[in-house]
Amino acid sequence: MIIAIDGPAASGKGTLGKRIAAYYGLAHLDTGKLYRAVARATLALGKSPTDASAALIAAKALDLGTLADPGLMDGKLGEAASIVASHPEVREALLAYQRAFARRKPGAVLDGRDIGTVICPDADVKLFVTAAPEERARRRYRELREAGNGISEAEVLADIRRRDERDKNRATAPLAQAQDAVLLDTTNLDIDAAFKAAIDLVDAAMGPAGQAG
Ligand code: C5P
Repeated sequence: MIIAIDGPAASGKGTLGKRIAAYYGLAHLDTGKLYRAVARATLALGKSPTDASAALIAAKALDLGTLADPGLMDGKLGEAASIVASHPEVREALLAYQRAFARRKPGAVLDGRDIGTVICPDADVKLFVTAAPEERARRRYRELREAGNGISEAEVLADIRRRDERDKNRATAPLAQAQDAVLLDTTNLDIDAAFKAAIDLVDAAMGPAGQAG
C-alpha cells in the first residue's frame, strides 16, 4: 500500500504523513528532508544552492543517516531546499531512493511536492493537503518560536509564499495536485480533525478490502 501526500509548505502534510503511517503500520518518508539535507550539504561545501553542479555532488553523496536530524527543519533551510529542488539533476539523483522506499513492505507513506505526480504515480491513495498561506505561516511560526527561532510571522509568511511560487512554477516536477488526488483543506481543522479527515479519505479510497486493521 502506497499513500502519496503532496501539498505546499507548512500545510501539515509532514505531521499527517507521520500519523497516517503509524496508524496503518507503514514506513514514512518526509521527502522535503532529502532536499533540506542536500541544501545543507551544498552550503557546507561553501557553494550556493543555485549552483546545480555543487548541489548534484551533495545529492549523490547524501548521508541518509542525517535525515532524522531536527536541525534540518531550520527556517532558513526551506528556502535553500526549494532552490536545490529546482535543479532537474538533483531531483533525478534522489528519485531511485524515493521509489525504493515506496516499495517497502507492507507499504509506505511519502509526503512532498511531486509524490502523486512523479515519484509514485500509481500510489493507492493520493492526498493533496493544503491550507490558506496565512494559516500555514501562523502554524510554522508557532513551531519555530517554540524551537527558539527568532523569525517573525511576517517573515515566515513571505518565505512560504516565495517557496510556493518557486515550487509551483519550476519546469521539473512542479508542486501540483495529481488529477486523481483528493483535496484536504486543513485551514479550519486542528491536527486531530485533519488526521481524522485524512483517515476517512484513505479508508474511502481503499474500500473495505484495503483497510488496515
Ligand atoms: O516539505 P518541506 O517544506 O520541508 O520541503 C522543502 C523544499 O523541498 C520545498 O520547498 C520544495 O522546494 C522541496 N521539495 C520538493 N519535492 C518534494 C519535497 C520537497 O521539491 N517532494
